Amino acid sequence: MTEKSYNKNLVIIIAAVAATGGLLFGFDTGVISGAIPFFQQDFQLSNSMVENITTAGLVGAVIGAMFTGRLSDIFGRKKTILSAAIIFVIGAAWSGWAPTPELLIIARLFIGLAIGISSFSVPLYIAEISPTHMRGRLVSLFQLLITIGILVSYLSDLAFANNNNLESWRPMFYMGIVPGFILLVGMFFLPETPRWLMSKGRETEGLKILKKIEEPALVDESMKRMKEELEKDKKRPNFREVFRPWLRSALIIAVGIMFVQQFVGINTVIYYSPKIFMIVGFEGARAGIWGAVSVGVVNVAFTVLSLFMIDKLGRRKLYFIGLGGIIVSLFALGLVFAFHSILGDMGKWLAIIFVWVYIAFFAISLGPLGWLIISEIFPLRVRGIGSSIGSLSNWLFNGVVAFTFFKIVKLFTASGSGIITHEKIYDTATNSFSMQAIDNGNPAGAFWFYAAIGILGMIWGYFYLPETKHVPLEKIEDHWRKGGKPKDL
Ligand code: BGC
Repeated sequence: MTEKSYNKNLVIIIAAVAATGGLLFGFDTGVISGAIPFFQQDFQLSNSMVENITTAGLVGAVIGAMFTGRLSDIFGRKKTILSAAIIFVIGAAWSGWAPTPELLIIARLFIGLAIGISSFSVPLYIAEISPTHMRGRLVSLFQLLITIGILVSYLSDLAFANNNNLESWRPMFYMGIVPGFILLVGMFFLPETPRWLMSKGRETEGLKILKKIEEPALVDESMKRMKEELEKDKKRPNFREVFRPWLRSALIIAVGIMFVQQFVGINTVIYYSPKIFMIVGFEGARAGIWGAVSVGVVNVAFTVLSLFMIDKLGRRKLYFIGLGGIIVSLFALGLVFAFHSILGDMGKWLAIIFVWVYIAFFAISLGPLGWLIISEIFPLRVRGIGSSIGSLSNWLFNGVVAFTFFKIVKLFTASGSGIITHEKIYDTATNSFSMQAIDNGNPAGAFWFYAAIGILGMIWGYFYLPETKHVPLEKIEDHWRKGGKPKDL
């Protein structure tokens, strides 16, 4: 009786920590977008320096994701997440304080480490500690919370954005201390996962915790299954198993789906949307951030929708519908920018509508599909390594796209077609603001470039995207062992 009620409380705390873990990941992904227009002017930065600062966070995430598997095996899941929370708090304070662009780069690199660590270790912790009947729901809750975190960061950016205060970016970054602190405190109250404790031979402790979180009738079975899995893990040859020929398809799928997810340019919209909206004619950084908030709302709404569709429609159908919509809206966005001078004021409304359509199609397909597919296609023995290669590819490709966006814009801007905005620039010599003309290039070509990659993604998907709906995971393994093709699954 007492055990039952304790059990419930613990599950609620687990859900809350899962929530802050996801929220933080999303918050720190999104916060930079509203901050960019301000620190760019405050530090008088070129677009390529802005790319460096944005990319620094991603480089940190790649490094974090790379080492977290080992770290969480050695020190345990709980300590790994606690250290991520500490890095989040310090990194947020440091980002807000940074007196020079160089120090801001280091601060973003530092906070990126925490993003990388938590993107891998929080879902792992949740999966290992959730009671069986709630596992799926709690893991997808984490994904939904990433998008909510992005939205919250846009709203907090909006609250602090003051067109007359170039240092508005500082409180935006400081805000990240709050969720970091909540994660830190929340995590103190949570136990280590039974699975990790057992892997270290701490069976009695593991069983004690398992009894608190698992339904009493399932405790013995869970314990047995865990022991079997650990036994199998012991026999795991090594890292190289995942590169064996029979698993080649799985590897191509994991890396490929993340390539398509990132190279349709999703994060140019997530990170740079205020800037994009300013270029198309919304005046001032605040209006740009409002545009971004609307993007965040659409993203959350359609991610919720996808949770209902993903098991009904299946992966392939969603992939093709979603990617189709993405390609069409990217193409249309390119047209809007190419003809912006003819479209006049209507251009900015068309741009925002197509960005919404783009985000909606992404949120029902590539967004959730990427993370889902990488967790399904590898056999249990190599699932950890396999999915970490997937998330590593995600951050790597994300970094490449963020780092090259403005360069691609420049590359594809025909001479004379650059869009000129008049922005309030602070002149340190005269200590005052003045309106100055800035040539932003024209992103039309960049959007068409991403659309073209989307078309390649369609062809790739036809051959490589497996339909894993309702397929038992063991059958997927069998299929690879028999040399089956992904599309025949
Ligand atoms: C992607 C992120 C992206 C987010 C947007 C995720 O699935 O991996 O790169 O920022 O979706 O909602």
